[in-house]
Amino acid sequence: MAISHAHATLFSRTSLFLSRNRSRSSLAFCIPFSTSAASSSLPSDKLHRNKWRSPVASVLELGGVKIGREDVMRDDPTNNVPDTIFSKLGMQLHRRDQHPIGILKNAIYEYFDTSYPNKFDKFDDLCPIVTVKQNFDDVLVPADHVSRSYNDTYYIDAQSVLRCHTSAHQAELLRRGHTHFLVTGDVYRRDSIDSTHYPVFHQMEGVRVFSPDDWEASGVDATSYAAEDLKKCLEGLANHLFGAVEMRWIDTYFPFTNPSFELEIYFQEKWLEVLGCGVTEQEILKRSGKTNNVAWAFGLGLERLAMVLFDIPDIRLFWSNDERFTSQFSKGQLGIKFKPFSKYPPCYKDISFWINESFTENNLCEVVRGIAGDLAEEVLLIDNFTNKKGMTSHCYRIAYRSMERSLTDDEINELQWNVREQVQSKLNVVLR
Ligand code: DAH
Repeated sequence: MAISHAHATLFSRTSLFLSRNRSRSSLAFCIPFSTSAASSSLPSDKLHRNKWRSPVASVLELGGVKIGREDVMRDDPTNNVPDTIFSKLGMQLHRRDQHPIGILKNAIYEYFDTSYPNKFDKFDDLCPIVTVKQNFDDVLVPADHVSRSYNDTYYIDAQSVLRCHTSAHQAELLRRGHTHFLVTGDVYRRDSIDSTHYPVFHQMEGVRVFSPDDWEASGVDATSYAAEDLKKCLEGLANHLFGAVEMRWIDTYFPFTNPSFELEIYFQEKWLEVLGCGVTEQEILKRSGKTNNVAWAFGLGLERLAMVLFDIPDIRLFWSNDERFTSQFSKGQLGIKFKPFSKYPPCYKDISFWINESFTENNLCEVVRGIAGDLAEEVLLIDNFTNKKGMTSHCYRIAYRSMERSLTDDEINELQWNVREQVQSKLNVVLR
């Protein structure tokens, strides 16, 4: 299973420079991709698209806050939230006990409840709409970091975003006095399309704060004490979830921790990165009034772990309402192996165009998802060249496939026709 890239931690040095997603590594700051354009499609086009969509509620309650559609999608150039993303708000897969994501969350809770009885406060209903300050500044993400770009993050306006990681809640919970906590939630990132990437996924954040009493008797310095405790805790978690697996620690970089590590486990003959973690930057603790403490923190991606634990081959399946998927999982049953119910044939369509300076793959993928929704299985760059005049051409192969039924030629041709039209009109590229 090609899982090695499924939402690698966003802030590590490796994911910045080695990411498969060129747009993320190229520091491309694009023109905001406005939703006003996204909603200006013809009525017949809308009708057609809605055929595959479940109805979207216009008011949601998220973490006790009532959110209307107009609070998230605005006719404003600083807003880049499309319909497809609005429809995912409030789904809360992580709060469904029968869903693989909820089952995994509960299994992690069980580990913390057993290892540290009554210690960790749990939050799984915090509103995913956060300020730029919470998402980036509070966790010391540099002002010029690529993750802040409109190409990578969904902005509601210049000051608020759909959180792109659960670390967005760290500082506030520390300020409120919590010293041991787990935050689970849906996180949002503009991304490319393939079997392990989806613009909405789920993370769990863990934080533990120590006081001088904890490390003073140990004979090691505070930072080493926290780092050792962190590693022990997370190795225990990996054993709880995967049984006796081989593990290794990789030194890495995150803006919010120092030292920082990634944990990899050896699973099905591959090293798999399962989480990012480290000793919290002292500045974060200081700003929340904790000058005499040290802390550790970790963040893990639930889809990535669930795909491995439950043998789920495509990340879109997590969003499926098909009974043949949903009925295979039950509360408390971690690691039941998913049995694919059938595999319908994919259909490939190529599209070639001359790109312009603001073109990014994430923008292309947003157009494709806006039209094809979860029928888009993969968007792959298959050809790329620059001619003598300096014009660059890209050819992408789009794979359309339903997890649930066979698609007709007419249906796919219409999708592709709409993609061609919108790629031209929204991305201002010239089709070849
Ligand atoms: N927020 C990081 C990401 O999404 C994951 C992470 C890494 C969280 C290290 C942490 C941490 O709390 O200490 O890529």
